[in-house]
Amino acid sequence: MTNHSTDVLFQPRRIKNLELKNRIVMAPMTRNFAPNGVPDAAIAEYYRRRAAADVGLILSEGTTIARPASKNMPQIPDFHGAALDGWKHVIDAVHGAGGKMGPQIWHVGAVASGMTDWMPPDGAPEGPSGLAAPGTPRGQAMSDEDIADSIAAFAAAAASAKALGFDTFEIHGAHGYLIDQFFWSGTNERADRWNGATIGERSRFAAEVVKAMRAAVGADYPIILRVSQWKQQDYKARLAATPDAMTQWLLPLVEAGVDVLHCSQRRFWDAEFPELDGEDGLNFAGWAKKLTGAATISVGSVGLDGEFLASFGGKGAAPASLDKLVARMERDEFDLIAVGRALLSDAQWASKVRAGDQAGLKSFEASALATLD
Ligand SMILES: Cc1cc2nc3c(=O)[nH]c(=O)nc-3n(C[C@H](O)[C@H](O)[C@H](O)COP(=O)(O)O)c2cc1C
Repeated sequence: MTNHSTDVLFQPRRIKNLELKNRIVMAPMTRNFAPNGVPDAAIAEYYRRRAAADVGLILSEGTTIARPASKNMPQIPDFHGAALDGWKHVIDAVHGAGGKMGPQIWHVGAVASGMTDWMPPDGAPEGPSGLAAPGTPRGQAMSDEDIADSIAAFAAAAASAKALGFDTFEIHGAHGYLIDQFFWSGTNERADRWNGATIGERSRFAAEVVKAMRAAVGADYPIILRVSQWKQQDYKARLAATPDAMTQWLLPLVEAGVDVLHCSQRRFWDAEFPELDGEDGLNFAGWAKKLTGAATISVGSVGLDGEFLASFGGKGAAPASLDKLVARMERDEFDLIAVGRALLSDAQWASKVRAGDQAGLKSFEASALATLD
């Protein structure tokens, strides 16, 4: 039961030339519903419904760059070639409903999908060292040319996002995929300049991606980067065990051109460094904002009483109070809040919260993953 006013969630926020009507962001969620990688009318309609129902900013499901092994399931949408026409319909539909949207730009690296062992027909998996996880070889280590091509493909996707009329884009640098595989010493065993003993050195690949994307879109276009301490390969992994390490990791990325850090946690209320400021201390987005000065998005179990990875094992979650979220936003800990499953299963979630319709809030059922309602 939410006892406090949720008005703070519905305050406008401007980030460069992105004018958001409120603080609610639809989290990027892979749906694997794009026939041959091309988003169709059902996908446009799925996003339009959320835009029409008070979501301030929609981040698309992960959508992949033009590299042979950038995806690990066949119906993940591409963000190149024939798919771009489909994305044009999506953004036009979202704008028609008064919404704002950015694609999440992704390369999965050497990670297999948890759902299928499908392999891309025209390429072996690739990553910094050809490791799906520490000690688990999969695919090949990228050559200098592969790395340069990947950076160029990220930049091309940025240019396409802007040309199609998207309001922003998000770079997927989290959860153990390609960019995160460079960050993480467990999957980066390179002996060249794309590795190093410190997290600052292992940020180089991401920084080069950001710089190339920034160059493709110019100074005023807002760029979001998603990062996480945790990995799908190891929920307890941490790239930065101290605020100093977090600064080394994230500040070069902000200096390279990131405007907004999307700090992925499974539970937004978990303090990032409780040993420093207590169990109710700043979360990851709070520390990232404080250390870098960038705007931040938090995420993780908003409005639900269970975390998201359990949903892949078939677990549902019931509606939960927004009071803790409201309190953190009222103390300006972070700027925006992303909502995943609650918006996946109920397009009307943000409108219901705005209207105070608590009785109308639905449980999340894992069966919702099978449809695109
Ligand atoms: C079905 C599903 C697909 C997801 N796909 C992505 C993805 O493509 N990219 C990404 O960064 N996170 C992905 N996530 C994580 C979500 O963006 C979000 O961080 C997570 O669900 C926690 O938010 P929630 O507790 O509000 O659901 C996915 C989550 C779900 C449930």
